[in-house]
Amino acid sequence: MNTQELFFRYFESIHRQGPGNTASTNRAFQIAKPFLPDKPLIADIGCGKGAQTIDLARQTNGQITAVDIHQPFLDSLEQRAAELNLTNHIRTLQADMNALPFSPESLDLIWAEGSIFITGFENGLKNWRRFLKPGGIIAFSESVWFSDDAPDKIRNYWNEVYPDIQTIEASLELIGECGYEVIGHFSQPKECWLDEYYYPQEAILDRWEPLYAEDPELSGLLKMFRREIEQYKQYGDYYGYEFFIIRKP
Ligand SMILES: C[S@@+](CC[C@H](N)C(=O)[O-])C[C@H]1O[C@@H](n2cnc3c(N)ncnc32)[C@H](O)[C@@H]1O
Repeated sequence: MNTQELFFRYFESIHRQGPGNTASTNRAFQIAKPFLPDKPLIADIGCGKGAQTIDLARQTNGQITAVDIHQPFLDSLEQRAAELNLTNHIRTLQADMNALPFSPESLDLIWAEGSIFITGFENGLKNWRRFLKPGGIIAFSESVWFSDDAPDKIRNYWNEVYPDIQTIEASLELIGECGYEVIGHFSQPKECWLDEYYYPQEAILDRWEPLYAEDPELSGLLKMFRREIEQYKQYGDYYGYEFFIIRKP
């Protein structure tokens, strides 16, 4: 086993691959809904195993193309969609979010929960804009500072892992500069991070850390996951995910 294999096995073992929950997905979708046609064409980018894809499919008559680079996540989503009789609404597509194969102005809604950071916040907003029909919507969650006075320790941590993190105000400004209007935004509650994302990881780490203790690379990866969780438990009042629902005029 190498670190990449362990990385994927780890995320394949949990229900969500990023912070989120059904209530937040539903809340964001309800904000977008008045602006969507009856049967919207939706792309869920960086869908992972598709926890939010399933939540979306339950609320729409539309068609969702669930996109991820990692085929085993898509296989898992397909199986779950079949079990829930949702295959009429969901198709999967293995593709790179930096080179999406959609036609110009073909989508009513782009969904990106905890994934736009991979291509870059600004980059994603600029590059994905062309796939939206006029009036089309992007709904995405992104890391933000909730406070201007975060302690140095957590600022230094974020500088190391994701220096592009901004305040909500700065994010809203950037959204405007990229040519979108904001329909709504809200901060995701701590349950999204703890109950849905970090507690399931802790259960895995408790089992796996002893198994890989002798391997410096594998145990280093697990330490990195553990450190992320501990940072959140200590400093989670200072940062989190903001869900933004924005519209191409
Ligand atoms: C942080 S996870 C979020 C997954 C899911 N949206 C959720 O909230 O549970 C990011 C996802 O993006 C996928 N990903 C990473 N790089 C990608 C790329 N270049 N193109 C498409 N998907 C990518 C990963 O495989 C992973 O499933």
